[in-house]
Amino acid sequence: MDYLAINKKAWDAKTKVHVKSQFYDIPSFVKSKNSLNPIELDALSDVAGKSLLHLQCHFGMDSLSWAHLGATVTAVDLSPVAIEQAMALSKQCKVPADFICDDVIHYMQQGRAFDVVFTSYGAICWLPDISIWAQGVSRQLKAGGTFFMAEFHPIYDLIAGYSYFHKSEPDVEEEGVYTENSENQEKQTIAVWSHPISDVITALIDAGLTIQSFNEYDFSPYDCFENMLERKPGEYIAKHQGKNVPLVYGIKAIKPHA
Ligand SMILES: C[S@@+](CC[C@H](N)C(=O)[O-])C[C@H]1O[C@@H](n2cnc3c(N)ncnc32)[C@H](O)[C@@H]1O
Repeated sequence: MDYLAINKKAWDAKTKVHVKSQFYDIPSFVKSKNSLNPIELDALSDVAGKSLLHLQCHFGMDSLSWAHLGATVTAVDLSPVAIEQAMALSKQCKVPADFICDDVIHYMQQGRAFDVVFTSYGAICWLPDISIWAQGVSRQLKAGGTFFMAEFHPIYDLIAGYSYFHKSEPDVEEEGVYTENSENQEKQTIAVWSHPISDVITALIDAGLTIQSFNEYDFSPYDCFENMLERKPGEYIAKHQGKNVPLVYGIKAIKPHA
């Protein structure tokens, strides 16, 4: 199965809907030039003057937010539509960043020397092999460089009916868009994989990174799952049998000096 072709087609279609959504709210972004959440802003507190690689950048709002904070940003995404939109947004905001259309696994085959590698919210489920991904992440960092990821928690996926544990074959399914303007939008075929947190941590350690912090959050900054409640601005929670579900986790790791 050509999972890259399937997911590229899906993300091209989703992006066209996302850019018109209130969920992403591009007009407000153009004014604020910030789409980052406290989780990642606290983890990567000072990016000014640093080179930063953003993996799976979608149409670039987070990439441009890091650039606005002073980072020199390279951002990679599979979807040509997303990358075109990111370049247009960069021009509109007058915030430069280097946007590259590629599969992140292919892009990360070549070693580079970034100060920071960042990925977030809905990224790794599109990748079949988390060990290959982690080795790629490590190759992109200079010695002493920092990796940070904020990702949706796989416990939510389990409750939503997905496997918690990894299977080599993807779940292939029809999925709609998560933005509020999803009505009348065609569903897209997607191919996704589960990655339990232990697999992610082990893969990063095996790739030579030192884990600095691991946190779990009982909220999501996004209202993107069913039946979420807004606990306070920017914190959406979900309940399972009356208890808060872990919705996001964050991992910060360093590439040690040799
Ligand atoms: C949920 S979005 C990530 C959103 C992200 N938090 C942001 O900055 O907006 C997932 C992104 O992963 C991209 N993607 C999926 N598979 C990919 C791959 N193999 N290589 C690069 N990008 C990929 C999609 O095109 C999509 O833009």
